Amino acid sequence: MLQPGRDLALITGASSGIGVQIARQLAARGIDLILTARRRERLEALAAELTDRSEGQISRSEMPTVVVIDADLAASDGPDRLLAELAARNLAPTVLINNAGFGYFDLFLEQSRDEIEAMIAVNLRAATILARELGAQMASRRRGYILSVASFAAIAPIPRYAVYSGAKAYLIAWTQALAHELRKSGVSVSVICPGFTRTEFHDVARHKKTRLMQLIELTPEQVARAAIRGMERGQLVIVPGWWYKLNAALTRLLPRSWASAMSAKAVK
Ligand SMILES: NC(=O)c1ccc[n+]([C@@H]2O[C@H](COP(=O)([O-])OP(=O)(O)OC[C@H]3O[C@@H](n4cnc5c(N)ncnc54)[C@H](OP(=O)(O)O)[C@@H]3O)[C@@H](O)[C@H]2O)c1
Repeated sequence: MLQPGRDLALITGASSGIGVQIARQLAARGIDLILTARRRERLEALAAELTDRSEGQISRSEMPTVVVIDADLAASDGPDRLLAELAARNLAPTVLINNAGFGYFDLFLEQSRDEIEAMIAVNLRAATILARELGAQMASRRRGYILSVASFAAIAPIPRYAVYSGAKAYLIAWTQALAHELRKSGVSVSVICPGFTRTEFHDVARHKKTRLMQLIELTPEQVARAAIRGMERGQLVIVPGWWYKLNAALTRLLPRSWASAMSAKAVK
């Protein structure tokens, strides 16, 4: 279990959606936070909200410390700059939430190389680099949690989200292997696979949501709750929501090509 005063959580993608909700839920328990994303104004507004002493939800002594560091994780030196900033400020997170991510909805052969590389950089490369460096620090202190936000698209890959689905599938395979490597280290490793969630994700993706998508959409609060609970329990792969749990089970039984044909129908 996370403990106020003992744990410090670094949340990437904390300026919007699921990241904001994870920050709110951890702050409500008095956990100290480092918020990162590109949009600094949003991070500062969230930090002000989370440390607003007039809110009165938790006592003064339990009020978390919230640090803001802006970083572009698509830049080739983005993850290392963030790590250097943490080191310069003597901040040693015991919790890493690899949440920053996005996908562009487009046919693979029509997507630009820049967009493809940015998707790989943020969803996969940054998560790996941050976990390599911060995970080593956690293992040396024999305490830590690493949670990566993948997607249901990793379980049932979605046509027109090919690179995104592949990047998120990497997070599952990587987490699974890493969790075994770290099983005696005191560092717990988890991955969550949310289905469609009501955030800014689909605006960024330039994807108009279908009626079915809206019908089965999760809330970011719901995803954040499942993520924190699963992470604290040491659950390896977390799938929030009964609809998606059922679908994950069915998908395992179907031929792989059917699963993606069904995903294609759901999004178009
Ligand atoms: N919403 C869904 O349907 C859904 C479903 C499954 C999985 N997910 C995953 O959930 C995670 C959170 O997404 P969300 O749904 O909350 O979407 P969102 O509201 O668009 O939030 C995405 C976050 O990622 C950050 N980000 C994007 N590019 C970045 C970059 N270059 N450098 C640093 N940070 C960057 C954004 O911050 P800035 O723009 O300020 O940098 C923002 O805070 C993502 O990994 C996403 O793939 C979402």
